[in-house]
Parts: sequence; C-alpha cells; structure tokens
Amino acid sequence: MKELKILGIVTVFTLILYWGVEPFAHSQMHKHVEGHDFTYPDLPAVKAKGNAENGKNLVMACVGCHSITSQNMPAPMDPVMSAQTYGVNPPDLSNIGALFDEKFLAHFLLDPAKVTKSKHFAMPPSAGSEQDAADIVAYFKSIAPKEVSPKEAYAAACGRCHANRYGHWTQLGDVPKTKSNIKTGVDLDALEFKKKLGIYQNKLADYMGKLPPDLSIIIRARSEDFLETFVEDPQSQLPGTAMPRVGLTKEGYEKVKAYLEETGDPSKPLREKTGPWVVGFFVIFAFLAFLWKKSIWKGHH
Ligand code: HEC
Ligand code: HEC
Repeated sequence: MKELKILGIVTVFTLILYWGVEPFAHSQMHKHVEGHDFTYPDLPAVKAKGNAENGKNLVMACVGCHSITSQNMPAPMDPVMSAQTYGVNPPDLSNIGALFDEKFLAHFLLDPAKVTKSKHFAMPPSAGSEQDAADIVAYFKSIAPKEVSPKEAYAAACGRCHANRYGHWTQLGDVPKTKSNIKTGVDLDALEFKKKLGIYQNKLADYMGKLPPDLSIIIRARSEDFLETFVEDPQSQLPGTAMPRVGLTKEGYEKVKAYLEETGDPSKPLREKTGPWVVGFFVIFAFLAFLWKKSIWKGHH
C-alpha cells in the first residue's frame, strides 16, 4: 500500500515535470518563427525603373572585387588573397540575377550592412542612388542564365562561408583531384590546397567570429521550417548571429535546399524511385499467393 502511494506520488511529479518543462524547453529551443516566403516586407518597394545598359557601365565598380565569369570578367585576386583583404572571398556575380530578390539587391547595394543585418559587412555601399541600384540590378537580371543548378546556387549564396564535405565543396571551391608523387608518396598538390584552405578558413573565422559550420548533413540535423526561416532571416532564429541575411528569392532558396538534400540525404531519389516498385511487387506477390492458395484448396471443400 505504501509502495503504491509512493509510486503514485512519483508518477504525478514526473508528469508535472514533463508537461511543465518539455513543451517549455521545446518552445525555447525551437522557437516558432513566422516566415515571409522570402519577400522581405521590411524593405520598401523600389520605385526607380532599372536600365540594364546603364547598369552595365556601373558594374565596373563591382569588378574591382568580384568576378562575373559568365561575362569573361575574372576575379581581380585569388580567393585566399581576397580573404586576407576582406575576411571572405566576394562571390562571383554571374548568377545573382537568377537567385537574389530584386528589391533586396537594390537596397543591399545602397547599404549592405543594414540590409544583411550584419554588424559589419566587408562590402562598402556600392550604388550612389536608388536609380543606380535599380540599373545595376536590371543588368544582372539581363545576364541571368535561365537555369542555375543547385550546386551553382549554393556556390553563389553560401559557398564562400560554408564547406560541404559530402559535396566535396570547400570555401575555395571543389576539392581538386590531385595525385601523390610516385617517388615520395606525398601528394604535394593536396597539401598545398590544404594550406591555402587553412589560411582562408582562419581569415574567415576572424571575420565571422567563428568558422561557419560545414553544411553536409544540416538538412537532417535541422527541420525544414528552421532552415527556411533561418536563411530568410538568420537574426529571427539566432539573435546576434554573424551570418548575414542573404537575400535569396523563394526559388533561389529551393535550389540551395536541393543541393543540401543531394549531399545530406543522397539516397532520397533512389528511395523515392524504388518505393513504387516495392509496392508493385507486393501487390503482384499477394495476387500470386491468392491464386496459389486457391489452387491448393481446390477440391478440399
Ligand atoms: C571593395 C570590394 C567590393 C566592391 C567594390 C563590391 N563588393 Fe560586393 N561583396 C564584397 C565582399 C567582401 C562581399 C562578401 C561579404 C560577406 O559575405 O560578408 C560581397 C558580397 C556581395 C554580394 C552577396 C550578398 C549576399 O547577400 O550574400 C553581392 C550580391 C554583391 N557583393 C554585389 C556587388 C555588386 C553588384 C557590386 C557593385 C555595384 C559590389 N558587390 C561591389 C566586396 C565588394
Ligand atoms: C558571410 C558568411 C556566411 C554566408 C554567406 C552564409 N552563412 Fe550560414 N552561417 C555563417 C556563420 C558565421 C554561421 C554560424 C552562426 C552562429 O553560430 O551564430 C552560420 C550558420 C549557419 C547555419 C547553422 C545554424 C544552426 O544553428 O544550426 C546554417 C543552417 C546556415 N548557416 C546556412 C546557410 C545557408 C543555407 C547559406 C546560403 C544560403 C548561408 N548559410 C550563407 C556564415 C554565413
């Protein structure tokens, strides 16, 4: 009887603790954040109509730091030197017109730190007026490719900060294929690359306050809802974080997500493709089993 009473008390207290703490902890750790589908409602609409021709001239101000490889404009410095200068390698701009929100970009060019919600953003304001900003954006729209692959989207929006081991991606681009030297067995080219990457990552960690995490399996570690609202506005989930608001459109984000799925959950397409076959197999198997049972029992009734 006494034991039962004790058991009862323990159970009651455990339940109180559970219901009191668990949902509370859950709401704290996984704060629900209302997303805005990458529409950036805090930024006012841009009234100026962009002129791509004029934008083409203004873009000369960008290529002192950025490459636009699709237009044969190479990077002025290699990524390591860029990181030593700015803390991070300025991304290639070939695809930004296809991935970034127009309104975001225009405001970003006028005031990068404010629009990305960063304490410090290594890029200075790079458009003189709203009209100039609109012209530059119109230019990038005019050179935007029709199709951007998931990997290209990741490279343009995240790749300068986040490695992706399973995608063989580093902040310096793809891990190069190298061969070890036959005489010594040492792969000097791979070592050289590692050294460069180490220098880059150190500069990046200084700039960001910490090295941005590898995103190989983030798609499995974090919920879809978290990732989407975090990328749309990092401050909404991690107040004070050094990660900038990137400014992707919804489609741009879907591309990035597709890359994270490819690297973090590579068997998903295979699973989805095999699923119907497995179901089909069971249907046929059940039918055959039924016929077999019928033939066995024939004449036994
Ligand atoms: C003085 C060098 C410099 C100049 C000039 C410059 N940028 Fe940048 N830009 C950077 C650096 C550095 C970054 C990356 C900063 C970071 O990620 O913290 C960057 C980032 C960007 C990004 C990525 C923004 C995001 O949300 O992720 C875009 C887009 C961009 N620049 C466009 C431009 C355009 C367009 C111009 C010309 C009008 C320009 N930049 C001029 C250095 C420069
Ligand atoms: C300029 C550098 C920079 C860029 C560009 C950038 N990030 Fe980050 N990111 C960071 C830093 C720094 C952190 C660590 C944040 C912290 O702990 O405060 C981070 C953290 C993250 C996290 C981990 C959040 C968590 O707590 O689990 C995710 C997910 C993420 N970034 C996704 C992205 C994606 C996706 C992109 C591209 C769309 C991107 N980031 C672009 C710098 C960057």
